[in-house]
Amino acid sequence: DGYMVSQSMLHNAALSYFTDSSYESEADVLPDSFPSAPAEPLPEFLLEPEDAFIVKNRPVQLRCRASPATQIYFKCNGEWVNQNDHVTRESLDQITGLVVREVDISVSRTQVEELFGLEDYWCQCVAWSSAGTTKSNRAYVRIAYLKKNFEQEPLGREVRLEQEVLLQCRPPEGMPTAEVDWLKNEDVIDPSQDSNFLITIDHDLIIKQARLSDTANYTCVARNVVAKRRSSTATLIVYGNTIRPSIPSILTPHILG
Ligand SMILES: *[C@@H]1O[C@H](CO)[C@@H](O)[C@H](O)[C@H]1NC(C)=O
Repeated sequence: DGYMVSQSMLHNAALSYFTDSSYESEADVLPDSFPSAPAEPLPEFLLEPEDAFIVKNRPVQLRCRASPATQIYFKCNGEWVNQNDHVTRESLDQITGLVVREVDISVSRTQVEELFGLEDYWCQCVAWSSAGTTKSNRAYVRIAYLKKNFEQEPLGREVRLEQEVLLQCRPPEGMPTAEVDWLKNEDVIDPSQDSNFLITIDHDLIIKQARLSDTANYTCVARNVVAKRRSSTATLIVYGNTIRPSIPSILTPHILG
C-alpha cells in the first residue's frame, strides 16, 4: 500500500545519499586543528518574547531566556535598548550544564506612542555564545483600545412563529479585536446548548425558527482587555396564531402552511 511504497522510497533515497561520492569527498577533508573541548553551540531560546498590549498606562514586561549565553540584550525597532534598562539573571542548566541567561525589559505607553512611523513597536532578543549570535522572534507591543460606538446594533422587530430572524451586530473597533457575546434578556446565548441559535463569524445572531419563547430583549456585548460595551437592546416579539383572530383556527395550518 501507499505507506510501504513511501517507506522503500525513503530507504532508497537514504542509500543513494550515503553512497554519493560528493558526500564522501567532503568527509575526507580534515580540519586544520581539533578543538580540545566540544565547540559551544549557538544560543538557543528557551523563552521568546511575546506580543503584548498596553492597557491604560500599565507598562508591559518582555522576557526572553537563552542558553548557552554569555550576553543577552533586547533590541527594539532595530535599536539596542539601553543596558541599564535590562534586568538580567544568570543560572546553570542542571541537565546540560550550560549557562542560561534571562532578561526582562519594560515598555511604557509613552515609548510606544513616541514611535512615529508605519510600523508597530517591536522588540527582539539577541543572545551571544562563543559560536555567534541568535535572534529571537519579534514581539509586537500595541496600545489596547475599544472604541465607544458599535458599527451596527441590533434592531427590534416583530416576527411570525417559525420565521428565521437575523439580528445584526458589528462591535466597535478594538485592539485586540473585540470578542462578542449575545444576551437574551441578561443570559449569554450559547448555540452549543440551543441549536436553534447560530452566531455567524460576523457576530450576527440567527434564530433559525422563532419560537414564542424567543420573545425577549437581545443585546450584543463586545469586550477586550480594555473594556466591555453593550449595544442598544433590541426587543424581539414572536407572535403566534392567536394574534390573528380573524383566521379560523381550524384553517390556520392550511392557510399559513
Ligand atoms: C425588555 O426590557 C424592558 C425594559 O427592561 C422590559 O420592560 C420588557 O418587559 C422587556 N421585554 C421582554 C420581551 O422581555
